[in-house]
Parts: sequence; structure tokens; C-alpha cells
Amino acid sequence: MKVLLTGGAGYIGSHTIVEMHEAGHDVVVVDNFFNSSPKSVERVEKIIGKRVPLYEADVADEAAMDRIFAAEQVDAVVHFAGYKAVGESVRKPLEYYANNIDSTLSLLRSMKKAGVKKLIFSSSATVYGTPDKCPITEDSPTGHCSNPYGWTKYMIEQILRDYCVSDSDMQVILLRYFNPVGAHKSGMIGEMPNGIPNNLMPYITQVAVGKLKELSVFGSDYPTHDGTGVRDYIHVVDLARGHVAALNYREKGAAVFNLGTGTGYSVLDMVKTFSRVNGVPVAYRITDRRPGDIATCYADPAKAKAELGWEAEHTLEDMVRDSWNWQSKNPNGYEE
Ligand code: UD1
Repeated sequence: MKVLLTGGAGYIGSHTIVEMHEAGHDVVVVDNFFNSSPKSVERVEKIIGKRVPLYEADVADEAAMDRIFAAEQVDAVVHFAGYKAVGESVRKPLEYYANNIDSTLSLLRSMKKAGVKKLIFSSSATVYGTPDKCPITEDSPTGHCSNPYGWTKYMIEQILRDYCVSDSDMQVILLRYFNPVGAHKSGMIGEMPNGIPNNLMPYITQVAVGKLKELSVFGSDYPTHDGTGVRDYIHVVDLARGHVAALNYREKGAAVFNLGTGTGYSVLDMVKTFSRVNGVPVAYRITDRRPGDIATCYADPAKAKAELGWEAEHTLEDMVRDSWNWQSKNPNGYEE
């Protein structure tokens, strides 16, 4: 298949180019480099030994997207592009709703004109809000999101479901990611957060490399095995392969799948495994809970296994090793 990736220069997008190529698909990337670098695609080209068509455009620019669809004749779209910083979304809700929702609506109009009927959307476990039970199945209640970023994912899921009702030939796959970490084993591509990272793994790697002094562990009084928050960390290469599996899904209408491992690890499990596997100390200090955080969140990934034939294969050791390999080889990300 020929697949267009919006936001394909980003962290998950760049890894997905590699996995789609390995599975025999052709990829076209659209990115406005708002939160990414064209260098990630250059690095991907080195990994796969092939040029990747790359368009610099905003997905919300309908005329530009129409031209790209006319030029490329794609079979499917994976829609990664969007603003994704939780804290920033609380400060700038209008920007988040406008950007994430307008770009999706505009993309759907362009796809309609071009007759493209398959869309895979980057959703998030954040749509479950505070889960009523773990592991979380896809039919668990959604909503009660704790921030505008999460609500944009929730709203876009609904928009895509409604759109499928209006066009019975549409195939939409909503992939709810748990906590992506790790990097391609080459160490050539990886996560490049802007400024001080909010998420745990990039914070750990930046402490390990000496860019940050110490990790604040947000709370040690949660009802978990060691008191620190538990999440379902998933290797980004497994996540990328989930998109390849979704391409082969043939049902019409909207379908939703969790992409997680099914296993939860605590903050201290992550810190200790990182130090042990990589032989690098990570200074940390226990601090207050972070507002909005939940104690425990991990997936039931059985539906993705049964219907997509996909399951995560990388271990926690793989995740911490590959995250460190990327960070230590590229202390400043894609900047030389
Ligand atoms: C967060 C977002 C989620 C988003 C996901 C992307 C919130 C409420 N949720 O999830 O919407 O999809 O990132 O990966 O922000 N931690 C520390 N110290 C740190 C950073 C994190 O102790 O410096 C802890 C957190 O309290 C949590 C765990 O590490 O227990 C994971 O945090 P994080 O990586 O930010 O992910 P989530 O909060 O699960």
C-alpha cells in the first residue's frame, strides 16, 4: 500500500516509516516541522536506504493537502499530526482545540475529494480519564479527560465515528496508545522533546546524560507495589508495528484498539531498570504528586492480538537500553 503519514517526521511517525517500509509499504510524509525536524526523515532514509517523499505542509491547509493527494494517489492515511503537550494544552486550550480538530476536519475533506477511505488515527489512553478498572479494555468508559489535549483525542474519535456513519465505505482505526518509550535500535531516530521534558523516560535519559540534575518522582503514596505511579510503557517500534497491523485490518466502519503491553511498571521500576541495564546512575528525589495523575493505568491488549494479530514484543530492558542508546548518541536530539 501507499500510505501518507501526517506528522511523519515526529517520534512515532519516524519509527512508523521504518516499520511500514520493512513490511513492503511505500510511505509519503507530510509535516510542518512545528514540533519535529526534517532530519528525522533524513535519518530514516539512511536506515532504510531509500528516499521518502516529504512535503512541508500544514495538515489544516486544505489546498496544500489536496495537491499532495492529487500527486501521490495514496491508499491510506495515518494521522499523527497534532499538538500533544498536556500542560501546554491547559494554558492554551483554544490553540489545542483549533489545531487538532481543524486539521482533522480539513484532512477528512481532502480525503473525501481524493476518494481515500482508510484512516488510522493516533488516539491515546488519556481518553479513559481515570479508569474504573485495570487492565483497561476498549469498552471501558471514556471521557472525564483531565486536560484539553485529552479532550481533543476524545472529540476526534467521535468525529471519526460520525464520519464513518455518513460514508459506509470508510475504514477508521482508532489506536489508543499507552506510554510510548524507546527508540530504533540503530540509535539514529528517537524522541526529541522541546525544552524540559514532561514525560518520564525523556526526563530519565536527560538526567542520565547530565542535562538535568535529578528526576522528581511525583508521589510515593499511591496504592501500588512501591507507592509510585504505574503505567504501561510500550516500545515505540512495537507501537509503529501496530500501525502496520492496522493497515491490514479490513472491516468497514470505526474500530478501536488499545496498543499497550498489558504490563504496568512503576516510576521506580523504570529508574532502577534503566540504571541496571545501562550501568548509569539516575539521581532522583521523591516529591509531591503531580496534579491530574492517576495511580495505575495499563492496557488489556487482547483485542489487538485477536483482531489485528499484533502484540508487543519488546521487554522493559529493550525499552531502557534503546532509549539510552538514542539519548547518549544524540545528546541534543537532531541538532548537531
Ligand atoms: C502523559 C499524559 C498523557 C499522554 C502521555 C504521553 C498526563 C495526565 N497524561 O501520560 O495524556 O498521552 O503522557 O506519553 O499528563 N513521572 C514522574 N516524574 C516526571 C515525569 C513523570 O514521577 O518527571 C511519573 C508520573 O507521575 C507517572 C509516570 O511517571 O506516574 C508517567 O508519566 P508521563 O510519562 O508524564 O506519562 P502519563 O502521565 O502516564
